[in-house]
Amino acid sequence: MIHKSTIQRRDFLKAGTATVAGTLLAPVAMGQGLASDPKPVRIGCVGVGRRGTSLLGILLRMEGVEVPAVCDLDPAAAVKAQQLVARSGRKAPEVYSKGTEDFQRLMNRGDLDAVILATPWEWHAPMAVSAMKAGKYVGVEVPCAITVDECWELVRTSETTGVPCMMLENWSFRRDNLAVLKMIRAGLFGEIVHCHCAHSHNCVYWYFDAQGQPRWSGDHLLRRNADQYPTHSLGPVLSWMDINCGDRFDTVVSMASRSLGIKDQLERKYGKDHAPAKLPYQQGDIVTTMVKTVRGNTIVIAMDMQLPRPYDNRWQIQGTRGLYNEQRDAVFIADSAEKAENWEPFAPYQAKYDHGWWRDAAAVPGTGAHGGTDGVELREFVRSVRAITQTLIDVYDSVTMSVIFPLSEQSIAAGSAPVKCPDFTGGRWQPTKPKFAVES
Ligand SMILES: NC(=O)c1ccc[n+]([C@@H]2O[C@H](COP(=O)([O-])OP(=O)(O)OC[C@H]3O[C@@H](n4cnc5c(N)ncnc54)[C@H](O)[C@@H]3O)[C@@H](O)[C@H]2O)c1
Repeated sequence: MIHKSTIQRRDFLKAGTATVAGTLLAPVAMGQGLASDPKPVRIGCVGVGRRGTSLLGILLRMEGVEVPAVCDLDPAAAVKAQQLVARSGRKAPEVYSKGTEDFQRLMNRGDLDAVILATPWEWHAPMAVSAMKAGKYVGVEVPCAITVDECWELVRTSETTGVPCMMLENWSFRRDNLAVLKMIRAGLFGEIVHCHCAHSHNCVYWYFDAQGQPRWSGDHLLRRNADQYPTHSLGPVLSWMDINCGDRFDTVVSMASRSLGIKDQLERKYGKDHAPAKLPYQQGDIVTTMVKTVRGNTIVIAMDMQLPRPYDNRWQIQGTRGLYNEQRDAVFIADSAEKAENWEPFAPYQAKYDHGWWRDAAAVPGTGAHGGTDGVELREFVRSVRAITQTLIDVYDSVTMSVIFPLSEQSIAAGSAPVKCPDFTGGRWQPTKPKFAVES
């Protein structure tokens, strides 16, 4: 007899985007019967440093979520997470802390439905692959992969196992971005042709520890020159521009400025003799990437993470009938003739086009985390796991956002030459209809 979860999985893969080339999931490993069963969703957390602990805190505010296992290379971090779970009134989770590969033992547990991965970037793809092979839903932090080969491995593993892999790109779930998505779908901006987006955030002290020594992330600044963090910029843009559901990235061109900001910030804080300030950082301060889509639309992505500045994302989406500008918190709609050439405040549009995920703001777990966005994201991830459906951001969307990292690097290294973006969907971007955040 075919188990119910197997049927559902087959159905959503057929209706969705994946081709099931190989094994269907072992039903038990997938958390059988969760859709109709009051049994809780059981999640293993791997990497409980800064971000992983924040995500764990949100999960613990949700009813019907258990955390039977936590894993971190650092035993102190793992025990802190264990205590956090126990303090929430849940059973204390088992700790996996015996070296870099100990996550494999966690993946082999039979009682987990999903894993949340919040480890350094180089571990994301290997851990996600291991989880999918073990039949566990994957919620992986950004970026989900850092090479083109890793992107392909994630896609192929999700296709052959039938297990969803969702990159936890929180800005896809931001309240204003979802309202803009509804305005686009209502045709307010006409046909979309262009978008601008950025991750402008001074992260120098995320790349370095309290003593100003490079952390794991700082190592990437030494070795690579790329848009190393493209997914926060692109999160909402994917659905705004129907990427992987009617259009896809075709060509990528990137340019990097010289690298001065890291050295200058380290010198100002630690003095001229601070050894890490003298290291030869490859990473340019500002990386500007242009993407042309197959449909002929264009996207400008800016990475600006090494210079002192306030945070912003500079989202702007423009079509034949108007545009939205996040920095101005304003829209311009051509048909409002009396207001021609004037920006209108965005707030009334936000109220009118508010997305259902946010309407009951009181139901958002962890409202402190990025204004509640992380709570909406995790709540919807858990909902997919419980219902045994495809995740809202699937493996194709996850790798499409992440692949800008290695493709921008290739383009910069080749003197800003155009680089082709692989079609990870194998042509399925054409018949696939927009599905992210569609309200019935
Ligand atoms: N979406 C967001 O808004 C957001 C914000 C911050 C960070 N992040 C992402 O979260 C991830 C983690 O960032 P962070 O700032 O928390 O880093 P961190 O260094 O504070 O935490 C990483 C943790 O992973 C552990 N770890 C390393 N290798 C491991 C292994 N092999 N097995 C188990 N544990 C291992 C480390 O001991 C550490 O505790 C990164 O991918 C980052 O890009 C996302």
